[in-house]
Amino acid sequence: MTVLVTGGAGFIGSHVCAELLANGGDDVVVVDNFSNSSQGALRALRVLTGRDVVLHQLDLRDNTELDRVFEQHEIDSVIHFAAKKSVRESLQIPLDYFDNNIAGMTSLLLCMVRHGVRRLIFSSSCSIYGDQSQGPIGEDSPPCPTNPYARSKLICEQILADTCARYDDFAVISLRYFNPVGAHPSGTLGESPLGIPSNVMPYIMQVAGGRLERLQVFGADYPTPDGSPVRDYIHVMDVAEAHCLALHYLADGPGLRVLNLGTGVGVSVLELVRAVEDTCNVVVPYEVVARREGDAASAVADPSLIDKEWGWRTSRDIRAMCKDAWLFQQLHPRGYVV
Ligand SMILES: NC(=O)c1ccc[n+]([C@@H]2O[C@H](COP(=O)([O-])OP(=O)(O)OC[C@H]3O[C@@H](n4cnc5c(N)ncnc54)[C@H](O)[C@@H]3O)[C@@H](O)[C@H]2O)c1
Repeated sequence: MTVLVTGGAGFIGSHVCAELLANGGDDVVVVDNFSNSSQGALRALRVLTGRDVVLHQLDLRDNTELDRVFEQHEIDSVIHFAAKKSVRESLQIPLDYFDNNIAGMTSLLLCMVRHGVRRLIFSSSCSIYGDQSQGPIGEDSPPCPTNPYARSKLICEQILADTCARYDDFAVISLRYFNPVGAHPSGTLGESPLGIPSNVMPYIMQVAGGRLERLQVFGADYPTPDGSPVRDYIHVMDVAEAHCLALHYLADGPGLRVLNLGTGVGVSVLELVRAVEDTCNVVVPYEVVARREGDAASAVADPSLIDKEWGWRTSRDIRAMCKDAWLFQQLHPRGYVV
C-alpha cells in the first residue's frame, strides 16, 4: 500500500510513519509545509527504519501542487494529521485556524475525490467534547467545543460526514485523540515543535532539561482532586499502533466511524510533574498561575468502544510516557538539529 501522510514530519505523524515503515512495509508519502516541524524528523525516520519516505514540501491548501502529488503516486489511503493545534494560539488567530485546518482538509478531500482515493483517517481531538468533568467521555457525548481549535476539528468531522453522505464509497475513521505524549522508545523520534511548546509534556521536558526555566500550571482551583486540570495522557506509540490498525479497518466498508483514543486514566498536571520527577530522576520547577481561557477542567476518555470494535487497548503507562519522552529530550536537548 502507498499511504499519503499529511503532517508526517510532525510529532504524531512521524511516529505513525515509523510504525507504517516498520510493520507491513507500506510505502509512505509525506506532505508537510514544515510550519511546526523540520526535516529532522524525516532524517530520524530514515535512521530508525532504514527506509526512505518520499517528501513533498507544500501547503495542503495549494491544490495545484497537491494534485501533482496524487498524479505522481498510486495512493491507496490518506492519514490526515496536518493542522494547527494550539488552543491558546487559536484564540488569538481564529481565522488562521479555520483557514489552515478546514480549508486544508477540504482541499485534500477535493483532491481525493478528483483522483478516486476514498480511504481516510482523520486526526480529531477530545477538545471537541469541551468541559465534561462528570466522568469518562464516550463518543456519544454531545460535542461542546470551547475554542476555535476545537471548533475547527468538529467542523472537519461534520464535513467528513457530509462527504461520506455524498460519496457512498468513501470510508473515513476519525480518531479523537486525548493527550498524546512520549516518544519512540529508541529516543530517535520525539516531540520537537518549533518555538515554545504549546503542549505540556514537551514543555516539562524542556524545563527538566534546563532549556526553559519553569512550568506554568494554568489553574489549581479546578474542581479536580488537586485543583489542576486532569487529562488522559496516551503514549504516542499506542496512538501510532491504533493508526496502523485503523488502516486495515478502513477496508471494512464506507461511512464515517468515530473512535476515542485514550487510556481511560485521568492524570492531573501536578501528578504529571511528579511522575516525570520520579521516573526520570529530575526536578521540574513550576508555578501556579491563573486559569487559561478555553481549557477544560477534565478530559478523560471512555476507551471501551475501540476495545469492543477492534479488540484494541493501550498498553503503555504514564511511566513509559515519561521515560521515553525524557530519553528523546536527553538525546536531542535542542530538538532536531536543523
Ligand atoms: N498533540 C496533541 O496533543 C493532539 C491532540 C489531539 C489531536 N491532535 C491532532 O493531531 C494532529 C497531529 O498533531 P501533532 O501533535 O503531531 O502536531 P504537529 O504540529 O507536530 O504536526 C502537524 C504537522 O502538520 C504540518 N502542517 C500544518 N498545517 C499544514 C498545512 N496547511 N499544509 C501542510 N502541512 C501542514 C506541520 O508542519 C506539522 O509538521 C493535528 O491534526 C492535531 O490537531 C493532536
